[in-house]
Amino acid sequence: MTFDRYFGQAKKRLRDDVTAFLASKRGDVSRLRPWGPDVLQRLRTFTLKGKMIRGGLVALGCEMAGGRAGAAAVRAGTALELIQSGLLIHDDIMDRDPRRRGGPSIHEQYARLAPASGGSGDAHFGTSMAICAGEIAIFLAFEAMAGLSGPSKRTAVAQRLFASEFGLVGLGQMLDIEAGTARELLPERRVLEIYRYKTARYSFYLPLAAGWELGGGRSSVRPALERLGEDLGLVFQIKDDELGLFGSPGKTGKPVGSDIREGKRTLLAAGLLGRATGTDAERLGGIFGHVGATEADIRFTRDLAERLGVREEARQVMARLGRRAGKEIGALPVRKGHREILQGLLEYIVSRTS
Ligand code: IPE
Ligand code: MG
Ligand code: MG
Repeated sequence: MTFDRYFGQAKKRLRDDVTAFLASKRGDVSRLRPWGPDVLQRLRTFTLKGKMIRGGLVALGCEMAGGRAGAAAVRAGTALELIQSGLLIHDDIMDRDPRRRGGPSIHEQYARLAPASGGSGDAHFGTSMAICAGEIAIFLAFEAMAGLSGPSKRTAVAQRLFASEFGLVGLGQMLDIEAGTARELLPERRVLEIYRYKTARYSFYLPLAAGWELGGGRSSVRPALERLGEDLGLVFQIKDDELGLFGSPGKTGKPVGSDIREGKRTLLAAGLLGRATGTDAERLGGIFGHVGATEADIRFTRDLAERLGVREEARQVMARLGRRAGKEIGALPVRKGHREILQGLLEYIVSRTS
């Protein structure tokens, strides 16, 4: 089966399961009007807009281990997608991003619902409500994980993996935030380490490993899944950075140039800051880390990244890690069909536009 078909089918099952799980919580929150039913609806709409690759990888991991991707693998995928929603909600607050998944980010949505509409308190109201919505998403997910069907030995390992890996995402985000304030240039190795924790492990290693455990796979394969998951995730994040500067907001659902405005230490930023000289460096200094940078400023930054070979350099890092991931896929002790789906996933990560 191809990557497209596999993840297309997985997404359908996940959409139904997310909907069913959140509907099952309606009774618990119906008394808590108006925000209880409202937050379930808001989380559902937001979560269903995702690509759901992470959730689908749980099913794939389970099948790779020789298991059948049944209710437990799908429900763990639902949990992962709900936590992803929670992380994105919080991330958009930290990064001051007003848009996500093609619409206003959740803190923006709530700001518009502030009772004292129009005042300066609206943004704070939006932020506070969105922090709560993110927490709710994450704890709903842990409730979903607590109710997984199947042998408790396997489900307990998956639950532990979720808790420990998502804890690391918080640390990855801290590193990312701190890096944004650093004066000195970060070496590539350091940037990639941040990417490993804020994105790579939870997005690829965690779902593959959780699925693998739910499917009863040998734990000796876990280090190979870890290496592959990290490499796929690094490629994914570098591509994300590229799309964040060169992509089309209509496709990514996110504003263009927000990493630059926030002063994010991406690989592209490291290259730009390291290579720009003279008037270029001067102008870049007035753009990088300035939330008020204009569209023309972002266009200048984009052209500069092309002109100085910084985009090309990031692409080469991506290609190098992609080749390594390809070899790791080839060496996995799984069926050929599953290796082909993983290769399709790798190609998608490198070539995606959204
Ligand atoms: C990433 O979302 C969210 C998490 C890392 C949890 P973005 O696509 O906004 O990426 P960043 O904020 O630039 O890392
Ligand atoms: Mg962000
Ligand atoms: Mg962020």
